[in-house]
Amino acid sequence: MSNIIECRSVSFSYNEGNNQTSVLKNLNFEIKSGETTAIIGQSGCGKSTLLNLMAGLDTPTDGDVLIANTNISKISEKDRTELRAKNLGFVYQFHHLLNDFSSLYNVALPLLIMGFDKGGALLKSKKILTKVGLENRLNHKPSELSGGERQRVAIARAMITEPTCLLADEPTGNLDAANAKDVLELIIELNKDKTTALLIVTHDLSIANKMSRKLTLTNGEINET
Ligand SMILES: Nc1ncnc2c1ncn2[C@@H]1O[C@H](COP(=O)(O)OP(=O)(O)OP(=O)(O)O)[C@@H](O)[C@H]1O
Ligand SMILES: [Mg+2]
Repeated sequence: MSNIIECRSVSFSYNEGNNQTSVLKNLNFEIKSGETTAIIGQSGCGKSTLLNLMAGLDTPTDGDVLIANTNISKISEKDRTELRAKNLGFVYQFHHLLNDFSSLYNVALPLLIMGFDKGGALLKSKKILTKVGLENRLNHKPSELSGGERQRVAIARAMITEPTCLLADEPTGNLDAANAKDVLELIIELNKDKTTALLIVTHDLSIANKMSRKLTLTNGEINET
């Protein structure tokens, strides 16, 4: 199996004035195609920081992150954005949908940015929103949707470009148990044909146990359990 994301001796510190907070220390691991992985660890241990690095939203202080075998520190911001768009989907803890746009346009946006024609992008978006059970909510704006529905739109948006890896940061963190279960089942469904790797940050052990690998982050170091 090929590597989709690789961390080589990755360290990360936040620098604020004279304050340096070392968060990640010399991490080495990779995510292979089709693999499902949970990242667990206490609040503040650096999970979101790590996910942002792996998604190419930030660059490491030391070491290298490779996405699809390309070192993200060695390419321009523009190329990094393109590499990310081509390979990765990202679901945030809080949905980060655009409030002025309908579900349909929120989902279509990544395709429109990639240069898809509008008709094709909207048709594809309608299909994926139907798949996540929102065929009757196409024209609703995020403020007109429930928390679980918003998270389903966010998942549809992350998957519309058919990424090789879906990164999700506490995707069910602010949902009730029933909605969390639905959203999780939807994410796992995406991995069924083993074409999409999943990387999920979670506090919930029942979610982590559904993944094939569990990585625990403690004191800036990662251990496979
Ligand atoms: N912009 C920043 N500047 C300085 N320190 C930061 C910044 N962002 C995060 N930190 C610190 O880095 C550490 C790791 O933060 P991070 O958000 O990665 O944790 P987390 O594991 O995702 O936590 P949670 O489970 O609560 O989401 C925390 O101690 C946090 O205070
Ligand atoms: Mg976090």
